[in-house]
Amino acid sequence: MIKKILVIHGPNLNLLGEREPGIYGSSGIDTLNKNIIERAKEQGLECEIFQSNHEGAIIDKLHSARQKFDGVIINAGAYTHYSYAIRDAISAIKIPCIEVHISNVYARDEFRKTSVIAPVCKGSICGFGFMSYYLAVMALSEM
Ligand code: DQA
Repeated sequence: MIKKILVIHGPNLNLLGEREPGIYGSSGIDTLNKNIIERAKEQGLECEIFQSNHEGAIIDKLHSARQKFDGVIINAGAYTHYSYAIRDAISAIKIPCIEVHISNVYARDEFRKTSVIAPVCKGSICGFGFMSYYLAVMALSEM
């Protein structure tokens, strides 16, 4: 049963609210995190949230999740499209991991249509704004 979840925000997501608001919305990461924690609580889940702009730090966090968490939600930002190292880390830890994106990556640039992490994730949710994360929390709570 899933009890403790880790949410990872990758590069540039610290700039939510300022960064391309037409695509990512005008609310900041603090609002997003507060809402994620609330939704997790409603589902009876404990939740830790981590943001980093660095590939290695994200990999270290995924490795450390192995002992502490039952499920992971990851928005790997642009790393989604080319980081085999993050893909291998997700695959190595054997904890169910859900890929999320705020925007609809299939309706944007060509390079965003490829996710190298999708094949090692339990599922992917994109295009619902911040709701993508809340849907992922619900999905983990049902697993
Ligand atoms: C994103 C989509 C990625 O293509 C982009 O590089 C991001 C954010 C999203 O949440 O929509 O940084 O992951």
